Amino acid sequence: MSAVINAFVVILGVMLAGGHAVAAGDESAQVWPERLHGHGGPVRSVALDADDKHGLTTSFDYSVILWRFEAGKGQVVHRMIGHEAAANDAAFAGAQRAVSVGDDGAVILWNLSDGAVLDRVDTGDDKMLAVSVSADGQFAVTASWDRTARIFALEGDRLSERAVLDGHRGNVNAVAFSRDGSRVFTASYDGTIRVFERESGEMLREVHSHGWGVNVMRLLPGETHLAFGATDGAVAVIDIAQGAVFKQLASHERPVLSLALSHDGSRLASGGGDGRIRVYDTGEWELLEEFENPYGPVWGLALSSGGAIALYAGLDDHVNIWQVAPREPFEPVESQFPRRFQVSAEDDLGRRQFARKCSVCHTLTPDGGNRAGPTLYGVFGRRVGTLPGYPYSEALKRLDFLWDEQTISDLFDHGPDVVTPGSKMPIQRLRSDEERDALVAYLKRATAPEGSGADSQGEQKQ
Ligand code: HEC
Repeated sequence: MSAVINAFVVILGVMLAGGHAVAAGDESAQVWPERLHGHGGPVRSVALDADDKHGLTTSFDYSVILWRFEAGKGQVVHRMIGHEAAANDAAFAGAQRAVSVGDDGAVILWNLSDGAVLDRVDTGDDKMLAVSVSADGQFAVTASWDRTARIFALEGDRLSERAVLDGHRGNVNAVAFSRDGSRVFTASYDGTIRVFERESGEMLREVHSHGWGVNVMRLLPGETHLAFGATDGAVAVIDIAQGAVFKQLASHERPVLSLALSHDGSRLASGGGDGRIRVYDTGEWELLEEFENPYGPVWGLALSSGGAIALYAGLDDHVNIWQVAPREPFEPVESQFPRRFQVSAEDDLGRRQFARKCSVCHTLTPDGGNRAGPTLYGVFGRRVGTLPGYPYSEALKRLDFLWDEQTISDLFDHGPDVVTPGSKMPIQRLRSDEERDALVAYLKRATAPEGSGADSQGEQKQ
């Protein structure tokens, strides 16, 4: 194809998809969509592969999605089901495999050609927040609330635990390998950044002590420096050999929740609880662009090579894609923050309970909306764990009773851990009889299938 036709196709693609076209080099211009739709709950993390052709996202809907970016669209290649709680982070391990971690304390190795689980290790009950894979794709390191980082060897379709990195006095929040994979950097809620030897699992030294909890960290190209973001909003670049601050970057007004480094190492971006995203060039540490997400915190962030595109995740069920260079304005604000969980004081008590405590994981319509839990449409009179097509836990499938006013009330009077032990439901109790009764009454009305005779009139389905 001639360059002219190429350019035309690109422009057409942008017009059709309403997306962003960014010239990556002389020839290839990648067209990016404006959003990635596919998750049924807020997205937790976003990662790009080395050539920006594929992405990995994790969500509160418990799933991991592999995306392909093509002709201005973000296509869902696989929606990967395996975690039994929110999936917090995922990393590519070469083109064929990925590793993810979640609130269930599980580490999962995925086959990206078919989206199947190759192997999983359940490390216990503590949440795992982050995972990083060595440049050669041979090892993964995970960050856990049990105050450790763990090294896994990725051998073919097996995950095998090699070392537990001990010593932090708080949750480990972020982890990174040195380029050659021989060392591992860890950042913790205890305010310190440490470096360990991968092979032996031995701590080499404390690199830096910030005082406030360190949430996120990136090792910078050349490996003489690293960047971190902390709970006090500080963002800084550390000289690793000296252990001292080399450059203080602009602080966030709330905790720093995300840091992204483009694959070519030229751009770093920080995202915070204040909704701000700032993009820096990693040579001069100049602030290149800054913008504010009016819909709240930015806890997932990735930058395309060269930093022209930022993909970010927060309270929305989709990933937003912002064109950093040349800068495009942020989408006009459509609704009030937050976009979700909107309840009005006029709603009845039961409806408010559902909106606040259940709607992030359940719909009331025939379609489950890719949420973490099955739709509750038609749940009254349904045998537990029997909605066709929903991937129930083994624990729930083994139970044998019907859902009715009494059993649903019991579920939240005693808690899912008592009524449905071992299930993927979060532990949650509604201690107030009034609230529980109102919720059950609301569900009875709002989940009744059309034409069932029950009064579902006037209920706006969520
Ligand atoms: C964080 C996500 C989450 C929240 C919040 C949540 N659930 Fe669930 N729920 C699930 C999951 C996941 C399952 C499937 C459990 C399994 O397979 O072990 C489930 C299952 C159920 C079931 C059993 C359905 C069946 O087909 O057997 C009912 C009933 C239910 N939830 C009601 C509720 C109600 C009512 C609320 C709010 C008070 C709520 N859930 C809040 C995730 C959630």
